[in-house]
Amino acid sequence: MPELETCSGYKYLIETAYDRETIKNMERPAIAQIDTFKRYPETEKIELPRSWKLKEARIVPLLQNRRSRRKYEQKEIDLEDLAFMLWASQGITAKSGCYTFRTAPSGGALYPVETYLSIHRVKGVKPGLYHFDVESFCLDVLTEKDISSRVTAACLDQKFMAQSAVTFIWSAVVRRCMSKYGNRGMRYIFLDAGHICQNLLIAAEATGNAACPVAAFYDDDLNDILGINSNEETAIYTAAVGKKQG
Ligand SMILES: Cc1cc2nc3c(=O)[nH]c(=O)nc-3n(C[C@H](O)[C@H](O)[C@H](O)COP(=O)(O)O)c2cc1C
Repeated sequence: MPELETCSGYKYLIETAYDRETIKNMERPAIAQIDTFKRYPETEKIELPRSWKLKEARIVPLLQNRRSRRKYEQKEIDLEDLAFMLWASQGITAKSGCYTFRTAPSGGALYPVETYLSIHRVKGVKPGLYHFDVESFCLDVLTEKDISSRVTAACLDQKFMAQSAVTFIWSAVVRRCMSKYGNRGMRYIFLDAGHICQNLLIAAEATGNAACPVAAFYDDDLNDILGINSNEETAIYTAAVGKKQG
């Protein structure tokens, strides 16, 4: 029975990690670029209507207006809005036998993704590092100390991140998924994270907030900030969220 470290999915994760030293000379394979759009110039076309009956539905402007925004008002966001964003990204919506189901789908209903928050400006909550307890719908207080500059530095010093009201940091408990699916499980982990982040982006838009997904970070630095055992759990994605400008 192969252990995690010997699996190709796990090795891939390690081999593609960024760190401050190797990033400078990181070899990028010489792969030629390709157009963003796949085209079938020779085929028959069926024009798609843009007059959807749903046009007035709330979801339409949310999708239309969503943008990765990197400028935020330096105002607090409401705890209620943060709670909604957490619920929208990972909240439990149903139970069946031993399974719980959430707002975002997950391969095999295994939910390998954990949510941490670096809180900077949320009404009624001290700046610090928190973990989202999905089951009890509450925040676990990990450190009541502003860690925004550490998180920003870990995210390749992308300055806008220090301006966010809260930064979501998602980690993967890889064993949760790989113990069932083996190497293929690594695919599912990243797909899960994509669903979760997209739900967050829509919920941010719905609450008048702005957000930007960020996947460029030094893996070990972010794992250290979260205080997680990187052999079992590792940061995979983040998103900065703050009050929308204007
Ligand atoms: C997987 C992923 C990683 C990203 N990482 C970063 C990042 O590190 N820094 C950043 O400023 N934006 C990042 N973005 C945002 C993209 O730059 C943005 O989605 C893209 O320019 C398209 O713009 P839009 O999101 O406004 O439609 C990331 C987006 C995705 C999906």
